[in-house]
Amino acid sequence: MSTVNYISSEVHKKVTCFSGNVIGKSCKWLFISGLFLYLVYIFLSSHPCCQSLAVAVNLNQKWRPYSTSKTISPTKIDHIVFGIVGSSNTWSYKRWYTQSWWKPNVTRGFLFLDRAPIEHLPWPPSYPSVRVSEDTSRFNEYNKHRMPFAIRMVRVILETFKAENKGVRWYVMADDDTVLIVENLVEVLSTYDHNKYFYIGMNSESILSNAYNSFGMAFGGAGYALSYPLAEALAKNLDECLKRYPTLYGSDHILQSCVADLGVSLTQEKGFHQIDLHRDISGLLSSHPQSPFLSLHHLDVVEPIFPKMNRYQAVNHLMEAAKVDSSRLLQQSVCYHKQNNWTFSLSWGYSTHIYEKLIPFSFLQRPLETFTQWRNGARPPYMFNTRWSFNDSCEAPHIFFFDSVEKIKGNYVVTSYVRSLPRSLPACSLSGNHSADYISKIYVFSPVRRLGGAGSRRECCNVIRVPKVNATAVKLRACMKDEIVA
Ligand SMILES: *[C@@H]1O[C@H](CO)[C@@H](O)[C@H](O)[C@H]1NC(C)=O
Ligand SMILES: *[C@@H]1O[C@H](CO)[C@@H](O)[C@H](O)[C@H]1NC(C)=O
Ligand SMILES: *[C@@H]1O[C@H](CO)[C@@H](O)[C@H](O)[C@H]1NC(C)=O
Ligand SMILES: *[C@@H]1O[C@H](CO)[C@@H](O)[C@H](O)[C@H]1NC(C)=O
Ligand SMILES: *[C@@H]1O[C@H](CO)[C@@H](O)[C@H](O)[C@H]1NC(C)=O
Repeated sequence: MSTVNYISSEVHKKVTCFSGNVIGKSCKWLFISGLFLYLVYIFLSSHPCCQSLAVAVNLNQKWRPYSTSKTISPTKIDHIVFGIVGSSNTWSYKRWYTQSWWKPNVTRGFLFLDRAPIEHLPWPPSYPSVRVSEDTSRFNEYNKHRMPFAIRMVRVILETFKAENKGVRWYVMADDDTVLIVENLVEVLSTYDHNKYFYIGMNSESILSNAYNSFGMAFGGAGYALSYPLAEALAKNLDECLKRYPTLYGSDHILQSCVADLGVSLTQEKGFHQIDLHRDISGLLSSHPQSPFLSLHHLDVVEPIFPKMNRYQAVNHLMEAAKVDSSRLLQQSVCYHKQNNWTFSLSWGYSTHIYEKLIPFSFLQRPLETFTQWRNGARPPYMFNTRWSFNDSCEAPHIFFFDSVEKIKGNYVVTSYVRSLPRSLPACSLSGNHSADYISKIYVFSPVRRLGGAGSRRECCNVIRVPKVNATAVKLRACMKDEIVA
């Protein structure tokens, strides 16, 4: 008998599924012993004990997870249930964020408040259905958290699961000031197997936030998704788990710990944005990672994302582009006008920058550091590389923000971008003094089809000068086979 098979059979003998309190009734095994190894067929088991044993014994088993026994239809919006955590005291000014993405009668889910929202009654049908969180006073002795409502917040998962669990594939948890791009969320979640155990979210932008909590944690304000089996397992174990972690900072870290104790770790999706940043986040939104844009959070603590608008107007303005083509939203493309030595960097539906010299994509994909740190102290402060914008003709971009979107004949969507402020610098002399000061508007033509998912390249583009008007056009297209953007 080989060593591996020997160990396998020993493990098999000793780790018995039929002892201890973990055995579920559904755990039925059929053992067939062969000459040197056991073949284990699991007919009716989804019990974690049996599954982990099946992996541990490493036999040539035929193992039919229930997911393959039925054909899986594509994931749709009504397979997702949203659990939103809010508070009655702040709902009056946070509701704008939820309203910007919530689709009445389309998105399923609930808003959980800390007390009855008497001052907000009658509750409009355009808001998510409201529930008051269960009383958590029985957990008081386990509440030594810096975040005072951590226990209530983490239990929203359990309460959402209890409230809605028929035909659900995913639970998406968010705060009342989270803005979600629902269509992209559906598309991203449909690439994962909802019958498996997934905890999908993203870190903070701030190294310190991650260090104080966990680098393996999905930051809740950014929104995160739990597959059905994981949410079910959490719902069963959460109240016990809470008691194991009475001193963690807040709900997100308690949750991550409970998920980790179930043997599941974080799957990162870079489109979720916690926004642990201050000031102007336009630099970040103009160099978004190559990943579907999924959420924004903390918009109350940063400047409005578009100039000359308040925060709510700015979010709704971004949603105008999202409604027409969420797949391209914030996706970055770079192209050149070589006769003028100009570089165009586009963040679809958000901004366009013109630089008066040729700059490769590798550099422009780093966000311009227009923002500041959430908490001072770490060097480097951010989870990504940034670049500085110097007040220098050859470094500072001309900045244009998204203005309008329309579909035109010929299968194109046209978005326009207008100059926010004059740059107030002379032309870049090192690259030939070609000033872009006269450009006041940029039109971007993008194909009507949705952008491809994981494994696709970014789109390439061409700059097209438009004679007689002080505008220029950019046409997005698939990159050619060996095309290099530099
Ligand atoms: C939702 O659907 C119900 C019944 O189908 C309808 O009465 C109601 O007006 C709808 N609400 C909204 C906000 O569209
Ligand atoms: C940038 O430099 C120009 C002159 O080169 C000056 O007029 C302008 O005030 C400077 N802007 C800032 C923000 O320092
Ligand atoms: C572009 O810039 C380079 C220097 O980087 C310069 O040699 C060249 O003449 C410029 N081209 C034009 C058309 O100005
Ligand atoms: C650009 O303009 C500056 C001053 O206006 C001049 O000194 C310089 O020689 C010019 N450079 C080119 C390449 O024309
Ligand atoms: C283009 O810009 C220049 C300089 O800013 C201005 O004089 C001219 O009137 C503009 N032309 C049009 C068609 O808007």
